Amino acid sequence: MEFNSGSEFVLSEFIARFGGQYAGEVGQRPRLYQAPGRINIIGEHTDYNDGFVLPATVDLHTWAAIAPRTDRILRVHACNDGRTVSIDLERIEAGEKGDWPEYVKGVAWSLACEDLRLRGADVVFAGNIPLGGGLSSSASLEVLLAFALLDCSDIELERKKIALTCQRAEAEFVGVQCGIMDQYTIACGSSNQAMLLDCRSQEYERVALPGQGVLLLVHSGVRHQLSAGSFNTRRNECRQAVEILASVIPGLESLRDLDMDQLEDHRTLLSDELYRRCRHVVTENLRVGQARMALEEGNSSRLGQLMSASHLSLRDDYEVSCPELDLLVEIAAESEGLRGSRMMGGGFGGCTISLVDRDRADDAAKIISDQYSRETGREPWIHIAGPADSVRRIISNG
Ligand code: GLA
Repeated sequence: MEFNSGSEFVLSEFIARFGGQYAGEVGQRPRLYQAPGRINIIGEHTDYNDGFVLPATVDLHTWAAIAPRTDRILRVHACNDGRTVSIDLERIEAGEKGDWPEYVKGVAWSLACEDLRLRGADVVFAGNIPLGGGLSSSASLEVLLAFALLDCSDIELERKKIALTCQRAEAEFVGVQCGIMDQYTIACGSSNQAMLLDCRSQEYERVALPGQGVLLLVHSGVRHQLSAGSFNTRRNECRQAVEILASVIPGLESLRDLDMDQLEDHRTLLSDELYRRCRHVVTENLRVGQARMALEEGNSSRLGQLMSASHLSLRDDYEVSCPELDLLVEIAAESEGLRGSRMMGGGFGGCTISLVDRDRADDAAKIISDQYSRETGREPWIHIAGPADSVRRIISNG
């Protein structure tokens, strides 16, 4: 059967699994919801350092069909791997790290920590966001479920608060000590605009996306596993650096408060590694501000240069790239019409994001794909980022 949309697909799977004219135990047809993925133009590994990021929603999605139950059981079926799990909301127990049911449980646990009493529900979900691609497939699932389960329980919660609750789920339940960028973008982003988010004040401004260029996403085929530890290691390195520097720089609470002069003045207190981690965060925060100006001026060349500089800093100072991502960035640099390219997201695999002139995008995609396949034997997944709304309920006519 052909489906026009992911929401039609999850609805049909829901009916197949949970009954023909499913009316739910409380007499409701399943409701449909969708949440986007996120891209990040610039500002990587700055969010958990209280810094700045410039992400946007992207037209890749997670969809869910949900109907409330009368008990407090969540019965959740994932179309992507065919498994169904039952979770008792009265007794949420952690299971295998990194597995999708942990995100479901994490969200339910985190909402319960806020004293929000969810109803049980039957849920079917599916998605087309590549897993481990740095496109926030896990945050998309978290925000989707939080939004949908709250809606089905007739509980209203501000979008910002939904984002923070989901971030807590990921940091404290799943165990990846991420910042707020992903969940915030998916909960509060808007179509066709990036978000300049100050991760300390949690205030944001909307910034128009590059007009003349498109953002090309290329998946290296190497799946990152953020819960594997390297992400938390970086976060701990930043904490260590703050602890050392705070003893000589009054008022320093996070790397957001550090500038290059202070870093150079106190360089001898830090190991070379910690010095480079700090240098990345300080320079990346500066680049976010410069990128915002470049976007406002419509200066694609400048924006591209900043993205490429970000990659070098992530590769050499923060050390979160990998040979496949570096190769993609090198190949991209040689394509005509390409303004800049960098790894995106947590790193250690996943996607690159490149700014390409609109009329050159298809050629660039083909050149990158051909050359990358020749050199690695891997066929890259490629997508030109399109606009997408933040998480929402889909009102169907049926
Ligand atoms: C992951 C985390 C985010 C952020 C990025 C790196 O996507 O979930 O909070 O730290 O990595 O910028």
